[in-house]
Formats: sequence, C-alpha cells, structure tokens
Amino acid sequence: MPAQVASTPRDQFASYPSLAGRVAFVSGGASGLGAEFVHQLAAQGARVAFVDLDAASGEQLSAAVAEEGGPQPWFERCDVRDIPDLQGAITAAAAALGPITVLVNNAANDKRDRVADVDVALWDDRMAVNVRHHFFAAQAVWPMMREQGGGSIINLGSISAHIDLMDLPGYITSKAGVEGLTRTLARELGPDGIRVNCIIPGWVMTKRQLDEWITPEAEASIARNQCLPQKLYPDDVARLMLWLAADDSRSCTAQKWIVDGGWM
Ligand SMILES: NC(=O)c1ccc[n+]([C@@H]2O[C@H](COP(=O)([O-])OP(=O)(O)OC[C@H]3O[C@@H](n4cnc5c(N)ncnc54)[C@H](O)[C@@H]3O)[C@@H](O)[C@H]2O)c1
Repeated sequence: MPAQVASTPRDQFASYPSLAGRVAFVSGGASGLGAEFVHQLAAQGARVAFVDLDAASGEQLSAAVAEEGGPQPWFERCDVRDIPDLQGAITAAAAALGPITVLVNNAANDKRDRVADVDVALWDDRMAVNVRHHFFAAQAVWPMMREQGGGSIINLGSISAHIDLMDLPGYITSKAGVEGLTRTLARELGPDGIRVNCIIPGWVMTKRQLDEWITPEAEASIARNQCLPQKLYPDDVARLMLWLAADDSRSCTAQKWIVDGGWM
C-alpha cells in the first residue's frame, strides 16, 4: 500500500546513514502518519516493527514495503490501550529484529466528544489511547536503549493543544500531557543517552482527515491560519521524524518541534 498522500517523491528525502540497520518501533503504524513513518524508516534501511489495531492494513503495508524493496517490517495487531499486550509486542519485536533504539509513539484517536457526554469511562479511554501508552512503551524500550548506549524516543503531540478547538477535551488534555511526559522522560532517561522529543503536527492531510474533517470551511480555516499556502502532508512530518530518530540530532532532547505551516 503506498502512503496515502505525499507532497514530494520519496527519492527527494535526505539520507541518514545512522538509521541503516537500526531497529525502530512505531505504534499506530498501519495508516496515516504512522504508515508514512514505517515507509520512510524502512527506506533508510532501518528494521521496522509496528503495531496497530487495524490488522488488515498493517499486513498490507508490511507486504507493500517489502515489495518496494525495503526490509519487510515486522507487524503485529495490538491495541495500545492494553498495556500488557503492548509490552508483549515490544518484547516480541525486539526478539525478532534486535534491540529497539528508535521508538515512535504515534497511535492516537481524535474522535470528537461533547463535554456533556463525557463520563469517567470515556475520559479514561481517551487517556489510554492518546497518552498512557507513550509512557509504558518508553519504559519497555528503556533497558534496550540503555544497553545500546542510547536511543531516540519521539512522541506525537498535536497543534490542537495550542489553538482554539472544540469537542476534543480528552484528546487535547492527552496531547498537552504528551508534552509534559516528553520533558520528564528526557530528564529521567537522558543520563543513559536516550533522547526524548515531541513532534507537534499542524493539520496534516491524512486519508482520515480528508475523509472526515476537510470540508470547504476547514480549507478556508487552513488558508486563513497558516502562514504558508501549501497544505501539510504526512511526509512533511516524516522528514522531521527521521532527523530526530537519526544521530544528526544527537544533542537535541526535551524539545517540542512544530510542523504546522506557521499556524497563527
Ligand atoms: N493528521 C493530523 O492532522 C494530526 C495533527 C496533529 C497531531 N496528529 C497526531 O499524529 C499522530 C498520527 O495521526 P494520524 O492523523 O496519522 O491518525 P490516523 O487516525 O490517521 O491514524 C492513527 C493510527 O493509529 C491506529 N490506532 C488508533 N487507535 C489505536 C489503538 N488503540 N491501538 C493501536 N493502534 C491504534 C489507527 O488504526 C491508525 O492506523 C497521532 O498521534 C495524532 O494525534 C495528527
């Protein structure tokens, strides 16, 4: 399955020799930004493992990357809300590919919720899908990274925690939490050479966004609020992810990195 949307050809990406042979784990990798991350990491010669709820798309993507000539990514269906399942997937991926030294905490769900409709179970579910697994995945890869002399953990935040948006109280709270989690993990794991950074995407044209949310009003909002006229695509975010994963960013940690076209 090719990436759903891309702004430029893959061969125009920078190369990061330090990523060749490295083992990377991506959550929510079967579609959207995660699928682009899987493609791009594999294109750099990384050995990629990914998990997702959507088994059919995950298996299709893994086969497609192999058909394109990359090393076939390891895929397992996993619900990141189920922490023992996620921990098991991380252990199994490392047993299959080797110690994980790049972790991309990407899985999330931006389902809309009206404040009046949120009960405790729904609130807890939003935390579980959007922030809790970031911590436990980092905790699970920490010993492997420490043993390898370091690693790079990349957490996906969101512009939604910084702009005027309605109907996303749990999602926005989680994404604000991802920024705090990034700082504390950077502090805790830094002595072991592990870097922890947060990417904050703006409004990115994934298939899901295009299918569900990009209306003429949304287009007008993008045109009004972004400094740059072009729409953002998954590869715009993947470029930053690759740099943060690679040794080129070896002294950068505990930071937020914004790719939003200059949203004002
Ligand atoms: N697309 C945007 O405009 C945008 C903007 C800001 C932040 N982000 C962030 O970027 C990341 C990727 O977003 P996206 O737009 O590609 O999302 P998406 O909805 O297109 O894809 C998310 C992937 O995660 C998987 N997933 C969802 N719940 C899961 C679960 N419980 N267990 C395992 N997998 C699960 C889905 O099946 C899907 O493959 C997310 O963290 C999101 O919050 C996206």
